[in-house]
Parts: sequence; C-alpha cells; structure tokens
Amino acid sequence: MTNDFQLTTRPRRLRYHPNMRDLVRETHLNINDLVAAVFVKHGNNEQTAIASMPGFFNYTVDKLSDEINEIVALGIKAIIIFGIPEIKDHLGSDSYSDNGIVQQAIRKIKTLAPDLLIIADLCFCQYTSLGHCGVAREYNGTTIVENDKSLELLAKQAISHAKAGADIVAPSGMLDGMVRVIRKALDNEGFYKIPILSYAVKYRSAMYGPFGEAAGGSAKSGDRQTYQMDPANGNEALREAMLDIEEGADILMVKPAHTYLDIIFRLKQAYPYIPLAAYHPSGEYMMLKSAIANGSIDEKRSVMEVITSIKRAGANFIITYFAKDIARWLKES
Ligand code: PBG
Ligand code: ZN
Repeated sequence: MTNDFQLTTRPRRLRYHPNMRDLVRETHLNINDLVAAVFVKHGNNEQTAIASMPGFFNYTVDKLSDEINEIVALGIKAIIIFGIPEIKDHLGSDSYSDNGIVQQAIRKIKTLAPDLLIIADLCFCQYTSLGHCGVAREYNGTTIVENDKSLELLAKQAISHAKAGADIVAPSGMLDGMVRVIRKALDNEGFYKIPILSYAVKYRSAMYGPFGEAAGGSAKSGDRQTYQMDPANGNEALREAMLDIEEGADILMVKPAHTYLDIIFRLKQAYPYIPLAAYHPSGEYMMLKSAIANGSIDEKRSVMEVITSIKRAGANFIITYFAKDIARWLKES
C-alpha cells in the first residue's frame, strides 16, 4: 500500500545487531566439517617442504608425531593420507603392499592418535610409472587404463589399508565398478564396518596440478579424459552418483569443489540421504594462497568465504588444505 520503504528494507532489519546476524546465519562452518591432508614418504628422519604447496611437508613415518599432535590439538577429527612411494612401477605395487608407505603411516598414526579418523585414498597415479589412476599400458601410440586388471589390485589396496587400520577407504580413480569390487573384497575379509567414500564425481580438472608436482608428476602420456568427467557436464554427475550408490558407496564426493558448487548443490538435492563430501584440491588451494601472498585478498576472510560456500552448496564435510588454518580461526573466535 503506502509503505514501500519498509517492504524493501525488511530483510535488512536482521543485519544490524551482530547477535541477530548469528541467529539467522544459515551455514556455520565448524570443526566437524574439516578433513586435513597428510603427506608421507619413505625414509628416515626427514621432513621436506612441498615446493608446489607452501605450508605443506612430506614426512617420513618416524617424523609424523608433531604434525599429528598438532592436528589433534586443533580438534580436527579426520585426516586423509597421501603417500609418495620410493619406487613407481608398472603395477603400483607400493599401493597394495602391507609395507606400503601409507599402510606404514596408518599403523603409526593409530598409535599416536587412536581416535583420529583415517581416510585412505585408493589410487594408482602416485604409484605407477605411467601415472594413471589405474594400471595402464601403451596401445596404438597412446596409454590406456586396464580397468579390470586395476580393479583386482584396487581390491588388494582396500584390504591392505583396512588391515593397517584405515577407517574409511576412498577410491579416487573413477574406475568402472570400483565401489562394487571394493565392497565385495572388504566384506569377504570381514571389514564390513569400513565405509566407502567414493570420488564419484571427479572432473578432469586443471586444479590438481600442485598435487601432481608433489606426488612426482601426473600421467606421462594419454590423459585422464577416458575416466574423469568433462568439466562441461553437469547432468552426467547425477548418473555417476547413481551408479556409485547402486554399487554400495556410503559417502559420495565431488572434486574439485569451488569450481563445481552447482554440482555439489545438485547432488545434495538429488540424494539428500547420501552424505556428501567435497574436495577443495591443491589448485584451488594455490589460487587462494597466491592471491593472499600477493596481498590481493585477505587470508581469513577469503578462505572462510570459499569453504563456507562449499558447505552452503550442500557438502557435509570438506577435505581442505586449509583445515588447520580454519581450525585455528574457529578456536580464536
Ligand atoms: C589421487 C588423488 C589426487 C588427489 C587426491 N587423490 C591427485 C589427482 O587426482 O590428480 C589430490 C588432488 C589435489 O589436491 O589436487 N587420484
Ligand atoms: Zn589417481
């Protein structure tokens, strides 16, 4: 009627008092949303800075205790471990050996912090000479992944990680049938309590570059477009998710996160009953880190904004290289 002014300003009334802003805030990032990443390598008494990812170190297993104690002291409840093997070979044998680097690290971390939840990333790219997410071979001048051979070895990876004490296994190679094969293998060995977090929707993204450098280079020839998703596709993500749910995935993941907020949103809308994770990868980490180092954007505000947006889009938890920073900020406030 007459009161246009009040109609147009109505939502703004809620923004004047800081406590009021807190009351109506829809998304609260908290410590339970965060998964931190830990990098391990073979050797003794070494801690090497990862050049492509400032703030990150590659630890030998005997040097892990300070890092793990810090993570636990910050209140972080879950980590994902990445291992750099001593040698990369055709089959990626370090990845399924009971003495593989990640298996050793898991056993060690379980003695340091028995309550810390450990996610084991299952893949071949760090472990094989060809650097693909499955066992690969040359064919007609290019490199192709041998899906079924890879599945056999992936099942062995899952078992060896479960035996070492992993609490969740997370196949990240986008291989056809990976969830079904891992579920069957785990159940056969009595590991029916171990959930599978599937990298169900993983895009062929430029955002994995810094991690690739840290892990000793990515695919040597051929690329990952035969198994990873085309960044231009959104509907297909729903199909990938559906297939993994049918195969028995307990948790789905979208990777990358910041560039794919629409996908996170759509997956959560389509499958509200399936826990959804998001992976904020190394390239997205470095986009922020570089801009922060430049003085272009404020560190705390930009990081909190991006990670909160991932949660707002629908992620139940987020794997992020900023986990420790965020945990610190949450403690301060
Ligand atoms: C293995 C794997 C990668 C990452 C998690 N699992 C490397 C990759 O997908 O290329 C990390 C990605 C990142 O942080 O950039 N497949
Ligand atoms: Zn991989």
